Amino acid sequence: MILVVAACLLTSVEAEVLPGPLTPIAGSPDRGLGIIRDATKPSCLICHQIPSLPDPGQGQLGPSLAGVAGRYSAEELRQRIIDARAFQSDTIMPPYYSTKGLLRVGSRWLGQTIYQAQDVEDVVAFLMTLKD
Ligand code: HEC
Repeated sequence: MILVVAACLLTSVEAEVLPGPLTPIAGSPDRGLGIIRDATKPSCLICHQIPSLPDPGQGQLGPSLAGVAGRYSAEELRQRIIDARAFQSDTIMPPYYSTKGLLRVGSRWLGQTIYQAQDVEDVVAFLMTLKD
């Protein structure tokens, strides 16, 4: 009985632990926007719209990111960028800071994450400016 309760507690705690900052340096929204626009990395704008940006050809595969800071905490946004499979196991959104369990990885990306830890912080800081 005690074991069962302990197992349940463990599962619910695990599901709710969201990552805090990955680096001691506060994210820079300006740098985050630059990273999103960096054509050498898969851009959020391939799949998402950020209507406050003038960038042409924004995607429609995922929900608009307008007002995303009002819908999610920084921790939730950080987890989504690190690895959105924590929320939806079959998501098409790439895990930007995980190399676990990936199939058909291009040779350029083998064993590497798309973002560095500071990139994650900077993109989270930019997303936190999208209040409406
Ligand atoms: C290949 C397409 C794709 C890319 C690239 C992508 N996403 Fe997503 N994203 C999705 C999809 C689809 C969803 C809807 C939920 C799901 O299926 O996981 C989503 C959901 C989200 C959500 C939750 C939105 C909501 O209103 O519920 C956020 C926040 C998000 N993505 C941020 C980002 C950021 C930031 C980037 C770039 C660092 C990014 N996404 C790159 C496809 C993508």
